[in-house]
Amino acid sequence: CNKTNSNNNFGVNNSRQHMGSSSGSVLPQIDHKQQEQYNTSGHTRLNQAVQWYSNQAAIEAAARKPVCRLAPDAILYGGNDSMKMAQYLHKELPIRIAHRIVDFRCLPFIVGCDSKISYVHDLYIRAFHLLSSFPQITDKESRKAYARMLRQLLDDHKDVVSLLAEGFRACRRYIENETIRCFLDRTLASRLGIRLLAEHYLGQEVERPNHVGIINKRMQPKLLIEKWCLFAQRLCETNYGRSPVFKIQGHTNASFPYFEIPLNYIIPELLKNAARATVEFYPDSEQLPDVTITIAHNERDFIIKVSDFGGGIAHDHVEQVFKYHFSTSDQRKHHDLNAPTTQSTATTQQVPLNTTNEITNIATSVSRANSTHTEGSSYDEQMPMRVCMTAQQQSGSKSYFAIGSGGSVTTKSSQQSDGSTDARLFDSIMKDPIAGDMHGFGFGLPISRAYAQYLGGDLQISSMQGIGTDVYLRLMHLTSKHENFVI
Ligand code: ADP
Ligand code: COI
Repeated sequence: CNKTNSNNNFGVNNSRQHMGSSSGSVLPQIDHKQQEQYNTSGHTRLNQAVQWYSNQAAIEAAARKPVCRLAPDAILYGGNDSMKMAQYLHKELPIRIAHRIVDFRCLPFIVGCDSKISYVHDLYIRAFHLLSSFPQITDKESRKAYARMLRQLLDDHKDVVSLLAEGFRACRRYIENETIRCFLDRTLASRLGIRLLAEHYLGQEVERPNHVGIINKRMQPKLLIEKWCLFAQRLCETNYGRSPVFKIQGHTNASFPYFEIPLNYIIPELLKNAARATVEFYPDSEQLPDVTITIAHNERDFIIKVSDFGGGIAHDHVEQVFKYHFSTSDQRKHHDLNAPTTQSTATTQQVPLNTTNEITNIATSVSRANSTHTEGSSYDEQMPMRVCMTAQQQSGSKSYFAIGSGGSVTTKSSQQSDGSTDARLFDSIMKDPIAGDMHGFGFGLPISRAYAQYLGGDLQISSMQGIGTDVYLRLMHLTSKHENFVI
């Protein structure tokens, strides 16, 4: 895709000069409550402050430099040299962020009028300023300070995907689908790369068995898939009162180096789609056909196939399912923040306590499995994770949870020891406009494919109308000697 070239672009006046010196500027901290107010006063405040320190000339100069992507085996075999990684990121991240900002500015003017999209644009300007004005990293102290800033930025940007989804939904009638698709594919894949590198660097600071940064040297796809099957099953039971059984077959003993972060986004998306299709295709049947996941592993790549008997994808939808915002769900209004609140089908009564605890356990185990952070925030946010994330920090009798979707995360806290609070927590999760739903955002397949392609693979769908669907997720090994990819 070429960047959109429009004279009437995003609303940036190129003659606007550097409005403030970056040195000595007081940066606004992002108050998390402010993120909920992006279209009211909170947004205006951030916007004004961002414009004050936006340095147009510096952004354009950085965007003219080429991006320097790393080969995954270099990351793997580079070991835990966090000084080298910090210095690489210090140079590289401002360039990557500048490319993103320029991409925003090539969008048609009307898109920049959307408060959520312009909020994300401002977040990137702020990130550019913070990253490019950070002093050279020369010792442990500066490395630690850099790590703290990165962790904060990852956190500040955690809602970017859902903000873009909502923003583009609001203005999509004014721009071509293809413009949105190219922009989102590029932005989200590049963001995946940035976040993988940043998380990898932060992960290098933490000792984890079998890990180099975010890379699990002996990742077992079966274990990861099992965890998400349990999640999808519980979610389906809660939404529909029943769920198909998930079966895993093929190379179930496979184990190889890989990073779980993108898989933790893609796999639950595919499983939820398969489960939803199955229950909706058999509305009255007691016995549902299984969903089967097949793992294939060879020296070049690995493939995860999700097969269901959910009736397949209608002929005239097959071409559409990879379009952003395409969904056959009638629950899309759940995700429109401007729409009146709609009731979720889940209620506390429908949720047996053991289910609640299982979900809690999954959140905890997912969090632990992915945890790379050391200090500071109340949760460990992994960008691509779509569903439940963290029960990371225990503070007295309180535990904090983060439940997210499409990059969106909301934190909840509960009294762990009190069963009724536990049930209320689960209830509120399932009522969350995004997290609790099985479907409706229309982002699962397109983002999953963009991530897979960025990682040297692909996502393909084969539908047997009237029977069911096979979805093939193919990913290159990090150590493949054949054609490889760069992050
Ligand atoms: P969402 O789940 O939010 O609708 P997705 O991008 O995951 O968004 O899927 C888009 C659409 O593709 C779904 O609404 C559904 O119509 C169709 N789809 C995806 N997977 C399947 C499947 N396994 N069987 C039948 N239809 C599917
Ligand atoms: C993002 O998550 O949007 C990023 O680009 C992360 C970066 C600011 C560290």
